[in-house]
Amino acid sequence: MSEQSYVNPLRDSQDRRLPRVAGPCALVMFGVTGDLAHKKLLPAIYDLANRGLLPPGFGLVGIARRDWDDDDFANYCLEAVKERARTPFREEVWAQLHEGLRVVTGDLTDEDTYARLKETLRVLDEEQGTEGNHAYYLSIPPNRFEAVISNLRKAQLVDKEQKTPWNRVVIEKPFGHDLRSAIELEETVESVFNANSVFRIDHYLGKETVQNMLALRFANQLFEPVWNRNYVDHVQITMAEDIGIGGRAGYYDGVGAARDVIQNHLLQLLALIAMEEPTSFDAAQLRSEKEKVLGAARPPTDLKSHTARGQYLAGWAGGEKVKGYLEEDGISPDSTTETYAAIRVDIDNRRWADVPFYLRTAKRMPRRVTEIALMMRPAPHLPFNATQTEALGSNALVMRIQPDEGVTLRFGAKVPATQMEIRDVTMDFQYGNSFAESSPEAYERLILDVFLGDPPLFPQAREVEQSWEILDPILDYWDAKRRQPEGYVAGSWGPPSGKTMLTRDGRAWRRP
Ligand code: BG6
Repeated sequence: MSEQSYVNPLRDSQDRRLPRVAGPCALVMFGVTGDLAHKKLLPAIYDLANRGLLPPGFGLVGIARRDWDDDDFANYCLEAVKERARTPFREEVWAQLHEGLRVVTGDLTDEDTYARLKETLRVLDEEQGTEGNHAYYLSIPPNRFEAVISNLRKAQLVDKEQKTPWNRVVIEKPFGHDLRSAIELEETVESVFNANSVFRIDHYLGKETVQNMLALRFANQLFEPVWNRNYVDHVQITMAEDIGIGGRAGYYDGVGAARDVIQNHLLQLLALIAMEEPTSFDAAQLRSEKEKVLGAARPPTDLKSHTARGQYLAGWAGGEKVKGYLEEDGISPDSTTETYAAIRVDIDNRRWADVPFYLRTAKRMPRRVTEIALMMRPAPHLPFNATQTEALGSNALVMRIQPDEGVTLRFGAKVPATQMEIRDVTMDFQYGNSFAESSPEAYERLILDVFLGDPPLFPQAREVEQSWEILDPILDYWDAKRRQPEGYVAGSWGPPSGKTMLTRDGRAWRRP
């Protein structure tokens, strides 16, 4: 193909070199006293302000049940920023942000809370010049979504048809508990907000390394020709965490690893790895490619052999003695929630027929690491004797999402001073060594995209449904068994069934 006729989807009509700066707007945050807001969202807002990407006319309204005034709220935000912001603290940036901070106290189910919110936004629009552009961020448990959304409607804080000023809603996962509840949730949300105004956050899509997967695949000539069943034996997607459930028992118990991580983060990674090249990175094109591949993906036929679930037992992690899941505060001693989940997914299309995708996630693993590994088929013929290639494994392309961000290529090379002994070596790209710029946090990117109304990095309703279609049969199978998940010692790589899932197929998990 000639260079002229090739359309590079990374090159779109807008000039992406210009800094993208949000226009006047206010963010209303439900769940502002929660863990996520404190650790991630408030620091991300400060970092955006610090990078000059928020307008002077910016407002942040926290909704809280605490008996707070604006100063208490500002102190709370300041503490979160000082503790967690990525960029250095600058008094002048904080002072400007501070001017737009307001708190509305009250219960989420109480209509008066929304009357006060409406008045607060009216005054804020006037004082800060936020011009009636409002984004509502729902960082709250899903069973409270309905109350908030219907109260926003009753208080006439949202106009579904109105384009300017805009009203948008940001929804944190989990998007439902299964397919049915996800569809119900969609109906509730879209009965009040226009579908184009709904931003479902999957923070993995905001990670630089995840976006880099698109660059790696579609900006280069080197990889795409081997990105298919002719060369790839199987794909491993691992998201391991060394932490336990911390203070999140209330959220995590009854949800578990598959719903918490596989339904969203890991299936989104699978979609980006496996999809065809979009004609551009517009939301519509990107989503349509993801939708196609998720539509071709299916749960394993043999659910017993190709799924595994575990629960961590007491052990050693991060250099300290840690409790087992059942001894954690707030967890019932007979909980059957899994903290380890592994599944095989197959994709029924020409590119991926017979190439299994193995997905695994767990808490209390030996270390925190997220990576995607394309494990290549063996060379069709090796002109070496068996001893010479004893130390040769599979060629692999590993995308390291975190923490050691980069890409590794593993292949065989001759060991010096031997006649012809081959051993695996690696070639590494590391973000830290190649770029002077540091990576923004995923939430910085995604919150800015909400303000700009830029939706490509937000999964659409259909993708959420498709992910449940893949997961539901597995969850039903696990439920029907009603078994205690298999125990694994904290600080180990998971239960035996996780291993046999691959050995049965003649494969093994990589040690990331
Ligand atoms: C969240 C999950 O979505 O992702 C958590 O609910 C998990 O259980 C977290 O700890 C991990 O995020 P990251 O960005 O640290 O990999």
